Amino acid sequence: MNIIKVEDYEEMGLLAAEYVSKKIQDKPEMTLGLATGSTPKSTYKHLIEAQKKGTSFKHITTFNLDEYVGLKLNDPNSYHFYMNEFFFRHIDIPRENTHLPNGHSRNIGQECEEYDKKIKGHTIDLQILGIGANGHIGFNEPGTSFESNTHVVKLADSTRKANARFFSSLEEVPTHAITMGIASIMSSKEILLLVSGEAKSEALERLLSVEELNESFPASILKSHPHVTIIADKEALMGTGI
Ligand code: GLP
Repeated sequence: MNIIKVEDYEEMGLLAAEYVSKKIQDKPEMTLGLATGSTPKSTYKHLIEAQKKGTSFKHITTFNLDEYVGLKLNDPNSYHFYMNEFFFRHIDIPRENTHLPNGHSRNIGQECEEYDKKIKGHTIDLQILGIGANGHIGFNEPGTSFESNTHVVKLADSTRKANARFFSSLEEVPTHAITMGIASIMSSKEILLLVSGEAKSEALERLLSVEELNESFPASILKSHPHVTIIADKEALMGTGI
């Protein structure tokens, strides 16, 4: 794993955006895997800036990692809303090239199958990833099979609490989500893991020091991926000696 240390959240976003822009310039019709949460917001902000300087998203295809179950697509807490608000509506990507699982589908099982089929019809060239404090990737909570494809997950209490900051109360945080599986994440050609802040320092330290792949710590699987780059800020790296 290649580790790039940066000063802070803002620099992480800038560097990540430069990294992604470069990949798009090299392969304008690439498939990009996208994440949500607080971590990639500054990356999207800088990618929007990159478009002003010539990067075009016209020919890329995107697949998002996950979506809450039960939220309408226009709910301000849905990841559909997030992606539109913070990225898609500001760039020149054709809407039909963007993909997110529909957590408001009447048949969630079928939705998972269909989303999985769509992913399998492509090869994700670069997957942007965040990490949960408990080591989750996407919404693949501890205990998820490394062989998993798109599936419904029951969110860990700690994940609901961590994400409650976006909702008016903990009760409003959905209990379930659809997530791209670990096998799908691992099938991407390259992974760009973004880590920022003290709250993630334990998870990052554990990831860097873990020797055995263990489903109780989902991110450990990244150790077996051939092409992972981590951009992490000082605070996130503080327990690692890097
Ligand atoms: C969230 C998302 C993940 C994200 C992670 C970290 O719940 N489902 O895709 O990477 O947990 O979130 P944040 O960046 O807000 O800390």
